[in-house]
Amino acid sequence: MQEKNNIPEFNRETLDLVDQIIKRYPAGRQKSALLPVLHIAQSENSGWLSPEMMDYVASLLDIQPIEVYEVASFYSMYNLKPVGNCVIEVCHTGPCWLNGAEKIIAHFEARLGIKPGETTADGKFTLKTVECLAACGNAPVIQVGQEYHENLTAEKVDNLLEQWKRENKVSHTNPYL
Ligand code: FES
Repeated sequence: MQEKNNIPEFNRETLDLVDQIIKRYPAGRQKSALLPVLHIAQSENSGWLSPEMMDYVASLLDIQPIEVYEVASFYSMYNLKPVGNCVIEVCHTGPCWLNGAEKIIAHFEARLGIKPGETTADGKFTLKTVECLAACGNAPVIQVGQEYHENLTAEKVDNLLEQWKRENKVSHTNPYL
């Protein structure tokens, strides 16, 4: 991605990808491509959607910026402020809560020294709590980018954190490439 006068601009490859997604829908219904295009925009912008990026998405889809803002602010998978390289989303809805989500959240808090909604000082990790991730049968569950980690225990959390630190984990990869 490049920027011109502070306005983001996708490169040719990403624009072609957006074009392919828009073409999945009938002519004049390009707004239907909003969710996937927002995922792409977020991955291109270090994991979050700035106002400038949302305005750019509106221009690509020929819709009003408010139509982008209202969708981006509704779904928890879109981040409206800067995040760390690795965003850890912990489900805390009923089934996960009953199976120990609170303990898992507390363990992440203790290991990372942050609360949900915060990012570590080194910019490596952001912790979030989210609603049901649709994997309730294997609660407690977290999502990191396109990966799910299920049946979590404190020991599994420790192993994952060690692994992610070792590999400098980045969770905001483009899901369409
Ligand atoms: S309640 Fe956690 S995945 Fe459904």
